[in-house]
Amino acid sequence: MTNVQRSDWDQWWRTAVIYQVYPRSFSDSNNDGLGDVRGIINRLDYLKKLGVEAIWMSPHYPSPQADAGYDVADYFDVNPEYGTLEEFDELIDEAHKRDIKIIIDIVPNHSSDQIKLFQDALKAGPNSPERDMYMFRYSEGKRPNNWGSMFGGPAWTAVESLTNNEEDRNWWYLHLFAPEQPDFNWENPQVHEFFDSYLRFWCDRGVDGFRVDVAHGLVKEPGLPDDEVGPDRWAEEVQDFDQTGGPFWDRPGVHDIYREWRRVLDEYGRDRVLVAEAWLTPEREALYVREDEMSQQFNFNYLKANWDAKRVRAAINDPIAANAAVGAPVTWVMSNHDVVRATTRYGYDPQIDYDRGIGVDDPQPDRELGLARAKGMAVFTMGLPGSMYIYQGEELGLPEVTDLPDESRQDPTWLRTGHQVRGRDGCRVPIPWEADAPHFGFGTGDTWLPQPEYFREFAADIQENDPASTLNLYRRVLKLRRELELAKGEVQWVDVGDENVLVIRNKDVLLVLNMGSRPVKISNVTSVVASSCDVVIDQGEAVVPANCGVWLR
Ligand code: NOJ
Repeated sequence: MTNVQRSDWDQWWRTAVIYQVYPRSFSDSNNDGLGDVRGIINRLDYLKKLGVEAIWMSPHYPSPQADAGYDVADYFDVNPEYGTLEEFDELIDEAHKRDIKIIIDIVPNHSSDQIKLFQDALKAGPNSPERDMYMFRYSEGKRPNNWGSMFGGPAWTAVESLTNNEEDRNWWYLHLFAPEQPDFNWENPQVHEFFDSYLRFWCDRGVDGFRVDVAHGLVKEPGLPDDEVGPDRWAEEVQDFDQTGGPFWDRPGVHDIYREWRRVLDEYGRDRVLVAEAWLTPEREALYVREDEMSQQFNFNYLKANWDAKRVRAAINDPIAANAAVGAPVTWVMSNHDVVRATTRYGYDPQIDYDRGIGVDDPQPDRELGLARAKGMAVFTMGLPGSMYIYQGEELGLPEVTDLPDESRQDPTWLRTGHQVRGRDGCRVPIPWEADAPHFGFGTGDTWLPQPEYFREFAADIQENDPASTLNLYRRVLKLRRELELAKGEVQWVDVGDENVLVIRNKDVLLVLNMGSRPVKISNVTSVVASSCDVVIDQGEAVVPANCGVWLR
């Protein structure tokens, strides 16, 4: 099974290892408790040594941080808490000197309510051209429809509650996320012009691409009909809601937007990428990476498969098949800033869904088991063809902080669901760099989310000098991935008669992941190329322990 048809493997993004920096929590150079641009510059050598070929930065723009920066107040500047445009330029220069690309986050579904555009719209009053930039609707006595916000509560807020202006009575504005994140009206050509100029602004500064936030949400069903899922997207019974359906997900019109963006980026060359964040089925996701649209989409099925062999198998096969039809590469994603960290997810029963976040009074994971599995999964994943994402701290084996004090939580879901859904803060806690420095070397100021004591054992400096550390495992295996050019290879399944054991031949390497509970024997092999655990080969037979990932020859 091949994952490419129209491929020109030389396009860097088809095979790249892309590291997600969450700027707020990565590295703090000015000791204010928040990460910053200079902090990223200071760690570029670390990332180079890790084997990273590109960085994707979560939003770096001025923002009131109602949703950790996904509420942008100025699309053409850098958050002063993170640095300046000049420092951002320096980051691009320094990254490029090291042959590392920079992908930034574009947030086109909504802005911050504090942006001038929205403030002007509020001031300009009903039916003004300014208001037409956003989704304002008139509806007497009740909200225009039943849509619910992804963070809990309704997706409509009364305009009058912001303006105190009587003429705004019965006017509402739409926000699929927090009320501080009003949705743009993508039927308005001026919104298109605004984002085209945004793309050019950052391309001119040298960025190599854009990760497109909520790529499947920009266009809403005409007439804004009710959502069949109902108004409460966090209710137990709709936990597994399907983002393929619904009047605001994956409407056909979104593709015209990405074709337009592709044309803008093509002014700068095919090397500038667009990456879709779209939580859909592989077949629907593949439509976003057609040749005249985006470059990559996140394969979230891989992440959602948890420690379930059947689901992991499908999360490999289905996207490969779907993307092959459009000639796009597949991405491998184990974690990001929106989900419980992989080492923690794998420390639970695979059927358990922790989408709502974890608190100290919830059942706790088996940390040792979770880490062993995460390392096994990482080794296996690094051998797959295509592009791979690493979420900051994943290379340290960092667990989710499941005992974060509730009073420190900042995720809007926590507030908007009346403290029912804990949300995503547990995977966003600042990185431990040095075991014995204040705040583990993140910076000397109190960190914006508190770090737990046990972060010490995961500190990068301790791992640096330990050949058996997770960090050194990542470095070694990423290097081999590059040397053996496995990212340019193919997936050929090998049946070893045990559905819990995944075995793939890629070039002359056998990638093995034992997701079962017993050791498994793999025959006709002579050497261990890379491994997350000790594997012995005796007379052409390798014994691979449970929860282990290994490359054999
Ligand atoms: C997806 C982002 O990854 C998430 O962090 C954010 O809250 C929503 N989009 C809204 O922008």
